[in-house]
Parts: sequence; structure tokens; C-alpha cells
Amino acid sequence: MFDGNRVTAHTRSRYPIFQSPMTWIARAPLVTAVSKAGAMGLLENSIRDLTVTKKEFATIRAATNAPFGVNLPIRYLQMDPAEEKAIIDWLLGQGIHFVTTSAGDPTRYTKMLKAAGVTVYHATATLRGAQKAVDAGVDGLIVEGAESAGIRNPEEVHTFALLQAVREAVDVPIVAAGGIVDGRGMAAAFALGAEGVTMGTRFVASFESPVHVNYKNAIVAAPLTGTIMTDNPPRARSRGLRTPYSVEVAAGTRERLPRNATLDMLYVQGDVDNTSGAAGESAGLIHELKSVQQIVDETIASFWREIDRLAALRPLPRRPERSEA
Ligand SMILES: Cc1cc2nc3c(=O)[nH]c(=O)nc-3n(C[C@H](O)[C@H](O)[C@H](O)COP(=O)(O)O)c2cc1C
Repeated sequence: MFDGNRVTAHTRSRYPIFQSPMTWIARAPLVTAVSKAGAMGLLENSIRDLTVTKKEFATIRAATNAPFGVNLPIRYLQMDPAEEKAIIDWLLGQGIHFVTTSAGDPTRYTKMLKAAGVTVYHATATLRGAQKAVDAGVDGLIVEGAESAGIRNPEEVHTFALLQAVREAVDVPIVAAGGIVDGRGMAAAFALGAEGVTMGTRFVASFESPVHVNYKNAIVAAPLTGTIMTDNPPRARSRGLRTPYSVEVAAGTRERLPRNATLDMLYVQGDVDNTSGAAGESAGLIHELKSVQQIVDETIASFWREIDRLAALRPLPRRPERSEA
């Protein structure tokens, strides 16, 4: 169905849809469900713990033969060079065919991964970052617009302009991130130059996502203005749910919680008001919890509906007029 699509040629998955790598969330239950549904599950690695990675990886491998990939968040792994080396050495021994890198310098792993036969996509939020990653030799890009959830570059541009600018500048396949929850967003991203999409917030609000149901329901309840940017020192910003807590953090009247506190308070305990779970502007487009299978199936069905709708805009070729005998 996606014959000729460079992203599915690289991932070997049925559909050019990724599930974004999300700390604590993108682990075996969610990755397995996404890969089984025909999309590309990506196992996150942000806590730098090989024991966790090994266990999650083995659980996914045991549950499905469908392709999945692994994300390497460069800056986080770099913090502990011994653990970084252990994770990468171990990973290269697993016969993994697809890795995404994010949050850091794309020159750090690309050559080494490619020398081992791994296909590498790098996530970036800037045109400069895209060019740097292509120069480093990546096979594809994940281009994240400012609508996206989580830690953001303070200078980033929204998806509509960013995708076109990156498409104009590079030749590698692009996977669009930010503001996409269904086939309408996917078709729009394809029109702007992407050949695949990735979704984060949509998959958090799935039955298979492991977070507390209060967090999922807060995403469903969020209006289009339901997210807020807060400073995330030393040099980042962060997009999360607009809650009493995040409004005060943005105003400078409340201290930001340490990173791991959100995991326990929100993901496990379900305290929405005193935390701010990562969420994209896409939260305002999510109206119900769904299974991963339903999200993927509906995205593909609505993608083709949108493509047909757009194709029907083209006037039929005029028949040559018959000459009168
Ligand atoms: C709960 C959550 C956690 C995230 N954690 C990470 C992360 O650990 N590393 C990362 O590179 N991106 C992370 N992201 C951002 C996603 O990779 C992706 O860019 C973003 O979700 C796309 O926008 P969307 O949520 O509107 O689909 C996270 C997003 C969410 C929703």
C-alpha cells in the first residue's frame, strides 16, 4: 500500500507511522502494540540503564516479529560514558536494523551505527540541525515542529513552515512530528514534504500506554489552548499540559519539579494539577481514548480519504472535441 515510500523501506513496517520515543512510556507494552498494528514502535532509552533496556527489548522481541526500533537520546546517554558505551555495544549485538537519535550532536553515533549496517534517523527541530544531521550521514530525519510535546528548542518554528524549509534543503526522507493525531494531519504533512509521521501525545492517550488514566483523560479533556510552554533550564523550554502547576511555573511563582518527580506524581499517582505531563498542541485534537490498533487503522483510513478528497479537486482532462463530419 505504501510501495515506493522510503520510510517504510527503511523501517520495514507496513505503515510510515512512528510512535515517538517517550521517557518511561515508550516501553514494551506500547512499543509492542504499535509494531503489531503495523506502525513503527520505538523503544526509549533516556534513563541510561542497560538492565531496563535489555528487559524491555527482550519482552518486545518475545511478543512480536514485527519490526521495531530503538531511540538513543544523545545528550542523556553522554552523561555517563560507561553506560553509554555499554548500551551501544549491547545494541549493536542485537541485530537491530533501525535506530533514531535525538537530543544532541548527530555526528556522535551516526558513522558507527551505519558501519554496523543500522539505518539511522535523527530528530531535529531546526533547519540547521537537519542540515547538520544530513552532513553527518543520517538516512532520514524526524522533523519536530514547535507544536510538539516535551523538551523543546527555544527558537523552533512550527511544523507548517519547518517541514517545507527542510524539504527544500535536503533530499533524505522526512518524518513529521508535532500536531498530528490522524490521517488529516498525516496527509497535510505529506503535502509539505514528509514521507512519514510520528505521534507522541496521541499514543499517550491510548489504552496500552502505561501512564495513569488521569493523565490520559487530561489529554482528552484539553482544549486547543490546553498546553503551555515553560522554561526548562539551562537552555530548553518544555511543552506540557496547562495545569495550575504549569501556569505558576510559567509565571515564575512556583519551582519546577525535578524530572523524576513527574514520573511518580503523574504517571503513577495520577496527580494532574500539581504536575505538567508532556503534551503537544495535538492534545486539543484528541477527543477519546483509543486502542493503538484503532489509532493506526483510523489514521491510515483517513489518510487515504484525504488523499482521495484532494485528488478529486483536480479537474478531469477535457476530451478533444469531435470534429463535425
Ligand atoms: C509524554 C511525552 C514524553 C516525551 N518524551 C520524549 C523523550 O524522552 N525524548 C524525546 O526525544 N522526545 C520526547 N517527547 C517528544 C516526542 O518525541 C515528539 O516529538 C512529540 O511527542 C511530537 O508531538 P505530538 O506529541 O504532538 O505528537 C515526548 C512526548 C510526550 C508526549
